[in-house]
Amino acid sequence: MSKRYTLTAALPYTNGPIHIGHLAGVYVPADIYARYLRLQGCDVAFICGSDEHGVPITLKAKKEGISPQDVVDRYHKIIGDSFDEFGISFDNYSRTSAVIHHQTASDFFKILVDKNAFIEETSDQFYDPEAQQFLADRFVVGTCPKCGYTESYGDQCEACGTTHNATDLIAPKSVLTGKTPELKTTKHWFLPLDKHQEFLRSWIVDQHKDDWKPNVYGQCLSWINDGLRPRAVTRDLDWGIPVPVKGAEGKVLYVWFDAPIGYISSTKEWALAQGKDWEPYWKDKDTTLLHFIGKDNIVFHCIIFPSMLRAEGSYILPQNIPANEFLNLEGQKLSTSKNWAVWLPDYLKDFPGQQDVLRYVLTATAPETKDNDFTWKDFQARNNNELVAIYGNFINRVLILTHKYYNGKIPEITGSNTKDDAVLDQLKNTPKALAASLDRFRFREASQLLMNLARLGNKYLADEEPWKVIKVNPERVKSIMNTALQIAAGLSVLSEPFLPFTALKLQTMLKFKNKPEWGELSGGQQLLKAGHQIGKPVLLFAKIEDAQIQAQLDKLQATKLANANESSKVFDLEPLKPNISFEDFLKMDMRIGVVMAAEKMPKTKKLLVLKVKVGDEIRSIVSGIAMDHDPESIIGQKVTVLCNLKPRNLRGVESQGMILMTKSKDGSLVFVQPDAAQNTVSGLKVS
Ligand code: MF3
Ligand code: ZN
Repeated sequence: MSKRYTLTAALPYTNGPIHIGHLAGVYVPADIYARYLRLQGCDVAFICGSDEHGVPITLKAKKEGISPQDVVDRYHKIIGDSFDEFGISFDNYSRTSAVIHHQTASDFFKILVDKNAFIEETSDQFYDPEAQQFLADRFVVGTCPKCGYTESYGDQCEACGTTHNATDLIAPKSVLTGKTPELKTTKHWFLPLDKHQEFLRSWIVDQHKDDWKPNVYGQCLSWINDGLRPRAVTRDLDWGIPVPVKGAEGKVLYVWFDAPIGYISSTKEWALAQGKDWEPYWKDKDTTLLHFIGKDNIVFHCIIFPSMLRAEGSYILPQNIPANEFLNLEGQKLSTSKNWAVWLPDYLKDFPGQQDVLRYVLTATAPETKDNDFTWKDFQARNNNELVAIYGNFINRVLILTHKYYNGKIPEITGSNTKDDAVLDQLKNTPKALAASLDRFRFREASQLLMNLARLGNKYLADEEPWKVIKVNPERVKSIMNTALQIAAGLSVLSEPFLPFTALKLQTMLKFKNKPEWGELSGGQQLLKAGHQIGKPVLLFAKIEDAQIQAQLDKLQATKLANANESSKVFDLEPLKPNISFEDFLKMDMRIGVVMAAEKMPKTKKLLVLKVKVGDEIRSIVSGIAMDHDPESIIGQKVTVLCNLKPRNLRGVESQGMILMTKSKDGSLVFVQPDAAQNTVSGLKVS
């Protein structure tokens, strides 16, 4: 029996198309791995689908005045088609609005109810009386209690990755009306993560200390060490899977409860279509389950979903969760709402037939151990200098010369030669080296090993110069070309996970039919026999011109301008004050802080006493802004603090700095709002 694998790739939210961040972080590495396993002859179920519930989808529907179903229908098609065209080789791409999924998720929930795996609890949740609805998850934003990020969502902080309950947020605001929400009593089902805590700890520490990536392992342990708390897995919303028990009318399953079950339903859907049994893929101890995700999904896949699976009792747990960090674009964080992205459908339109170029670049620069940057210049350079100049050039030379000298018939080896042997040795060793990298999810490293094989072939031809030797020693050229053709054939197999379109083209050109499995490549046998007739060469890669890159950069520039226009509001300004010297300016030490507490100074109208966290210290600052700001409303506010203003005693409180404010059009005081991470030292430190 061949080894069985279930690979899942995070189900994308169906509220927008796929962009390069998703591809680099999840889908390209997952696809490389799936293809690699298939080449090894493994039994692989590569599973994905659309994540169609959750608040972002309802928000998008509201904004566009259409139904959530319309939104998911539109993007399910766009996403599915673009994955297909891009060559992501899912065995099944399902969707969480599918009947089979509703059924599977409901059944899963009911089993947990029967097993007493939930706590049912009535508690106070945020409610927006104006919108007449509860504010779950992304319906509410506020300051993260852990890191101070001011735009944390109700269920998760995107800055530090922590998950929390909405009511933990400092200074919460309704996304629907901008108002401070009220509390209203409602009943929910909670998964008691605290009960699974010690199991999770020993599972992760004892079994996965060495094989999980340090970023994944470290994050999990830190959450466990902080102490896990029960988490609500139901919501008062009208979009989602109805909670399948009595007394839960108007409630749906939390999207992060149903979505990972989507992996299971998608597997079922696939197995049904294939006439297979789905259960071994999820329940057989010999199956390896792997979740490919981005770093913002770690907690759900390493803590919450395993707790659900364990509570159910009959499932295996994931073997590994190779989560990636984030990809930036031209130095800025990717953002769907700010349209700061390279969208897959756009790429496919602008670079037709060049799927492998993007796959290669995203792999070669994958954000595996730290966030990484995608730039169009780098994209161009990697295409022109590596794919075209090395890989493409090598293959083109081999094929053209084989046709020129031998009418496309592979010549025989005419004698042994140490240089040929050295090159063939490398070819023989590459599958093992690649496997060693891939087995540790080091796709970046693997892509470079692959390119090194092409580089080796290219250099071999350049060194041996068959086009010169042909005039003096045609017998020797037969060996050279035979050797080069073996490398081309090896490349056509080993490239398949990384460059599937190229690999197929190359195999077609070589008429390479009886391809060996990955492991057999290490045997050192002749991949293409002497006398084999190859086909006509076609170009594998095309040079990307400056104008194409400029067009992409122009597009981004236009986005930047549109965003800047959006956020800049022009006011009537007061006349400028007299000039000061640069030295005067340099004396000031301004830093970014977050207001952690605020209260009125007794018996004053204007003064607030603030506690502001700057770096690691908390400063008391007395600020004359009480006429314009309620103390409660500014908790969590990010502010710029002049830190080296001589401390002053104001009504018995030592004020250790000054908050920078400016006047708005109506004369009220507003914060000079720094849109930077906390603790960032402001521009004044620039020397
Ligand atoms: N939709 C989520 C996201 O894009 C991922 C869901 S993964 C699953 O971040 F496990 F829930 F399926
Ligand atoms: Zn945070």
